[in-house]
Amino acid sequence: MDKNEIITEIQRLKKEEDAVLLVHNYQIGDIQRIADFLGDSLDLSRKAAEVKASTIVFCGVDFMAETAKILSPEKRVLLPRREATCPMAAMAVPEALKKMKAQHPKAKVVTYVNSSAEVKAESDVCCTSANAVKIVSQMDSDEIIFTPDKNLGAYVQRFTDKTIYLWDGYCYVHNQFEAEEIIEARKAHPDALLMVHPECSPPVIDLADEVLSTSGMVRVAAETKAKTILVGTEAGMIERLQYENPDKRFLSAGTVKTCSGMKAIGLEDVYIALRDGIIETKLPESIMAPARLALERMLSYA
Ligand code: 13P
Ligand code: SF4
Repeated sequence: MDKNEIITEIQRLKKEEDAVLLVHNYQIGDIQRIADFLGDSLDLSRKAAEVKASTIVFCGVDFMAETAKILSPEKRVLLPRREATCPMAAMAVPEALKKMKAQHPKAKVVTYVNSSAEVKAESDVCCTSANAVKIVSQMDSDEIIFTPDKNLGAYVQRFTDKTIYLWDGYCYVHNQFEAEEIIEARKAHPDALLMVHPECSPPVIDLADEVLSTSGMVRVAAETKAKTILVGTEAGMIERLQYENPDKRFLSAGTVKTCSGMKAIGLEDVYIALRDGIIETKLPESIMAPARLALERMLSYA
């Protein structure tokens, strides 16, 4: 089948299977353009909790499909490829988190959604890059264990006097952005706006004009008067920004960085997932119930 035939089949199967396609901003352009909902982790968690369809095909990575399943346990959630994983989510494990909680008994645990269901289940509340500052500031404790992204946690620390104990996790994609390459990019484009994701390292964040979640970038890209925008995040985001704002120029802030988990899914995989009902996300209710509390608290806070 050629591309158009695959898209036609996906549309047909979506109706037949009563399915919606939730798509993260880092997916390839062809998948972004057939999305029912395209967004950042927060938008997609909200949609997963709201949508009426009985099947969600999640074009993103495993923790996003798990979040959708936890928030909508009665729905069938399909993640088209097993390789669609987030290495940062694997950096936190529940046993080690339990130890850290024992070391800091007064601390509340704020867990970035880029984490396993088991780690969410050990947490007081979840957050995303769009609401982390707000969530931490709303916690009724002066001590916070922040897991698993040390860069996002350090970014949040800039806005609060609370003591934040950082987990030693990071995103291998955003961590590749280096201050030196960004300084070079700024020299080459002195009038450009520089926006970066809060998963970038502190020296990169220090250089940025704006620090934003991927949906925050969509908003600022449309509003800014700047004609050139340097973007410190994954390549799929830059593709979306360029597609939606053809009169502006979007460049990676340094070499282009791609997330192999996000890029594991192709159009044909979406078609096969719908045709064969694979790969279904399944989790025990004993894990989903406490993880759901942490996610629902996030949705009610922010
Ligand atoms: P956003 O929630 O900002 O889309 O980020 C998700 C992610 O995985 C960033 O690497
Ligand atoms: Fe995980 Fe980083 Fe990929 Fe986001 S970009 S899914 S944090 S590895």
